[in-house]
Amino acid sequence: MKFFDVHGVCVGGGISNRLGAVRLHSVGGLSTIALLMSDPIELKKVSRVFGKGPSTVQALLDVNLEVSPGTFLLIKGPSGSGKTTLLNLLSGLDRPTSGVIRVAGKVITDLGDRELSRFRNQEVGYVFQSFYLEPNTSARDNVVLPMIFGEVPRRERLDRAESMLERVGLKEKIHASSANLSAGQKQRVALARALVNEPSVILADEPTANLDSRTSGEILDLIQEIHARDGRTSVFLVTHEKDLRISGALDLWMEDGKLRVVSD
Ligand SMILES: Nc1ncnc2c1ncn2[C@@H]1O[C@H](COP(=O)(O)OP(=O)(O)O)[C@@H](O)[C@H]1O
Ligand SMILES: [Mg+2]
Repeated sequence: MKFFDVHGVCVGGGISNRLGAVRLHSVGGLSTIALLMSDPIELKKVSRVFGKGPSTVQALLDVNLEVSPGTFLLIKGPSGSGKTTLLNLLSGLDRPTSGVIRVAGKVITDLGDRELSRFRNQEVGYVFQSFYLEPNTSARDNVVLPMIFGEVPRRERLDRAESMLERVGLKEKIHASSANLSAGQKQRVALARALVNEPSVILADEPTANLDSRTSGEILDLIQEIHARDGRTSVFLVTHEKDLRISGALDLWMEDGKLRVVSD
């Protein structure tokens, strides 16, 4: 296995397939790769420091990344290496200490809080290890929630929630309370909720860590299938499972706040 460091090397510039292209580039900048499509996701010299004084933690350090729409990135790395921090910054849940982030044609690091909330609602589908469903609320009403914020008319909200639940294999559970769903079913609801506003990027933070291996495989297959079907949604899937392989995904390795491409 080879690692290509972000600094000073243009990595994967020639990689282009139906899943997109990715380029990690040096701080000094390198020539643009023509294969990159419009509106790539871009991080330029992104750092995130937590705390002040002697207890400072450098969670991300000068991360540079350029990803074309539709790319599937599988991000691995030890606990505490900065994976969740990266996803939080991409989603606009957190802001970098320095650097610029562009997603879906918007420089999100320039957005005010209201615009950032709207961006999150429209462009980002976040899936978490612990599902974070509304308790004692039906599967359908959980999926409806992001559409209420997005001001989708009521009838359309219900129709879209139902067809999204069908798409993730939960047709029979549309009216079931979240409390009565298995862990795998909860994660399917969370996926439906993440996808229902047709985001341009799916951020999945250890989405299978609370699932048994069979259910985990099913959820990963579903994410892959959803990604392959529409072809324009980018996926950042974080895992601490070193051996996880996802066909068509590009493996990145995060360590000490730095991101590198992994090549077999
Ligand atoms: N809100 C926070 N306040 C202080 N330190 C944090 C905070 N969030 C993350 N960190 C620190 O930043 C580093 C990276 O954390 P994280 O991104 O959660 O790593 P990972 O997801 O790879 O386990 C860790 O050292 C963690 O303790
Ligand atoms: Mg994490």
